[in-house]
Amino acid sequence: MANHRLRALFCWRKLTKRDWAIAFVGFTTIVFIYTLFFDYRTDQASSLDLSDNDVVDLTLLHNAEERGAFCLDGSSPGYHFKKGFGSGSSNWLLHIEGGGWCNTIESCSFRKTTALGSSNFMQRQVHFAGILSSDPSQNADFFNWNKVKIRYCDGASLAGHPESELKNGTRLFFRGQLIWEALMDELLSLGMSNAKQALLSGCSAGGLATLIHCDDFRDLMPKQATVKCLADASFFLEEQDVLGKRTMESFYHDVFHLQGVAKSLHKDCLSRVEPSKCLFPQEFIKSIRTPLFIVNPAYDFWQIRNILVPDASDPHNNWRQCKLNIHSCNPDQIEILHGFRNSLLKALSEFQQIEDRGMFINSCFVHCQTWAAETWHSFNSPRINNKTIAQSVGDWYFNRNAVKLTDCPYPCNPTCYNMDFTRG
Ligand SMILES: *[C@@H]1O[C@H](CO)[C@@H](O)[C@H](O)[C@H]1NC(C)=O
Ligand SMILES: *[C@@H]1O[C@H](CO)[C@@H](O)[C@H](O)[C@H]1NC(C)=O
Repeated sequence: MANHRLRALFCWRKLTKRDWAIAFVGFTTIVFIYTLFFDYRTDQASSLDLSDNDVVDLTLLHNAEERGAFCLDGSSPGYHFKKGFGSGSSNWLLHIEGGGWCNTIESCSFRKTTALGSSNFMQRQVHFAGILSSDPSQNADFFNWNKVKIRYCDGASLAGHPESELKNGTRLFFRGQLIWEALMDELLSLGMSNAKQALLSGCSAGGLATLIHCDDFRDLMPKQATVKCLADASFFLEEQDVLGKRTMESFYHDVFHLQGVAKSLHKDCLSRVEPSKCLFPQEFIKSIRTPLFIVNPAYDFWQIRNILVPDASDPHNNWRQCKLNIHSCNPDQIEILHGFRNSLLKALSEFQQIEDRGMFINSCFVHCQTWAAETWHSFNSPRINNKTIAQSVGDWYFNRNAVKLTDCPYPCNPTCYNMDFTRG
């Protein structure tokens, strides 16, 4: 059995690496990264206690064809469903996976050849960990809920529209919104329509999808249910890069127009600012009515590497080492990173005042933190005021405590797991 478990974990790791690499595609330079997020698992795999229980099969959306809900390549989207039990059997936790976006015909065509654009390339089983774990010692508040990992295969945070598809024979489906709708119908029919408690969550581009669809999700649930949303590592900042160029803004502009995402975004934002800016959470977070929790590292490596210092903004490679390992940053670079953190805190200052909002902003060089035991809840996972992310999210969800946690600036927190991309 142990072999099976490790093999499942290994497949998952391999795919995760590749997915991360794709997440970078579309920026000025394609960066091939061989050492990615979960490499440190290699050291820990043997000590991980994976219950077979938590290896979950892929289900392809049954109504995909009739709903016109397709991945970029026309294949059926998928999800992994694990039924709840005991006191959790009427509660639902959804987690949307991340994986960047595609902003051009070329990058979307490339994506079709990967799991982020086609279910033909998705692994048939994934391991549920962190917020998806059924192990109460790892996931005390949600372990017995119905859990769904939603696979991401449209390239536009579940917000594309078919009207934008090219009519000249280029086969690319922009069905993000239709995938969202068909998936919700399928989950409602599986019992979610009787949910008593629900939490929609997601990481990175999946966290952005969570923010975009949070209020729809609320409205689909029974009125008397408790419904909340959790966005992990998805507060992508509307900031210039180190050369003063608006790299991220122009990237989002391209995604927005290519896939016609306007119709999925908040109307009051669209009428207030340049519409493609409504992909930036700081532009529409005020409009979200549903209780919301933000988990975000203040030194998010994805944002540093792609928004603040994309390769094109660093022609002499002065930032190269710093982008691989925050411990290698020089004092001037650390100052710039602190500035980026200040922008995040400023963008969240109003949000923080609202009663039913929660946040956990730790000063770590990491990206998604809810989907692995190491960062969600374990003896050595990151903490603020001695609370793990799992404890903080649970306290907020169940109204045990108000949770508005902001860490002191780097490098003050010894509990951080800081990524090191220099390790082979
Ligand atoms: C279709 O149009 C797009 C954009 O106008 C263009 O880039 C692409 O090459 C065209 N494809 C074909 C098959 O003509
Ligand atoms: C931190 O929390 C753990 C339990 O999660 C507890 O054992 C420990 O004493 C706490 N440490 C401090 C400094 O409060």
